Amino acid sequence: MSHSQIDSHLPQRADTLLGAAGATEERVCPKHGPYQAAGYRFGERVLGAECPHCRTAQQQATAAATAGRDAERRRERVAALREHAGLPLRFRERHFGNYQTPCPEAVKVARVACAFAERFEDHLGAGSGLVFCGRPGTGKTHLAAAITRVVTAGGRAVRYLTVAAALRAVKDTWGPSAGQTTHQVLKTLRAVDLLILDEVDLQYSSSADKLILLEIINGRYEDMRPTLLIANLTYEEMEGYLGERVLGRLTEGNGAVLAFGWDSYRRQVHLDPHLPLADVPPVDWTQRPSL
Ligand SMILES: Nc1ncnc2c1ncn2[C@@H]1O[C@H](COP(=O)(O)OP(=O)(O)O)[C@@H](O)[C@H]1O
Ligand SMILES: [Mg+2]
Ligand SMILES: [Zn+2]
Repeated sequence: MSHSQIDSHLPQRADTLLGAAGATEERVCPKHGPYQAAGYRFGERVLGAECPHCRTAQQQATAAATAGRDAERRRERVAALREHAGLPLRFRERHFGNYQTPCPEAVKVARVACAFAERFEDHLGAGSGLVFCGRPGTGKTHLAAAITRVVTAGGRAVRYLTVAAALRAVKDTWGPSAGQTTHQVLKTLRAVDLLILDEVDLQYSSSADKLILLEIINGRYEDMRPTLLIANLTYEEMEGYLGERVLGRLTEGNGAVLAFGWDSYRRQVHLDPHLPLADVPPVDWTQRPSL
């Protein structure tokens, strides 16, 4: 471009920049009909003067697309968190909605579990956890799965492991050809937002097993991360196994020990297929049962 060509553009530019803001003209939008276009005059043309209805529709479409992408990303994240939680297949579709309450104690237990899940952020800050004890078949793992579902929906990471699997994961690091160090495994178990240790059993009472278990529990306690410990034991047996101090640490703050003191759900269903299977009533946070 020569100097003279550039010069010939200058007056129009100056006009645009200095003199012609707020120019208007009559226009017709093919979709919305006539409108008064308001923009900048550039020579013969008025620029930046699209139909206001079209502009609003465009902005709404962009906002909807962004919201859709965000929602999709959230769904993917929650799906990944659920996958990583490692719940056994049987329990992936267990939640508060399909937990039935065959007796008042079950209502109370479900409410506390639900409150724990819904208020997980508070528990995460305080490091307060839960202990479930009671006979097999009373729905302890079911409620752990229900909690997992709510907590992962809130974007938090959950790891479900039986005690046997946790001990194996640590002991597998002892061999010379181990892929991970003991420290790495313990660090991972320590870091997850909610650790669920299921099937605590008196059989894990060797000093090595107990040491590992206590190291996991105490590490999480120090970092104020909640742990859910589940055992097919009575509270007394659990206390005898872990000690009062450890149970106290697990439930410090707003945590709770919940006794699943009723008969096996399976047996009850077997006996009476027409049990009143009401859903868990909505949780009233101001009326949380005293723990
Ligand atoms: N209150 C309940 N409502 C619905 N299903 C239940 C209930 N209690 C137990 N179940 C079902 O019975 C089976 C055994 O329960 P589970 O959670 O494994 O018991 P636990 O862990 O106490 O041994 C599971 O399939 C579970 O979903
Ligand atoms: Mg179980
Ligand atoms: Zn338009």
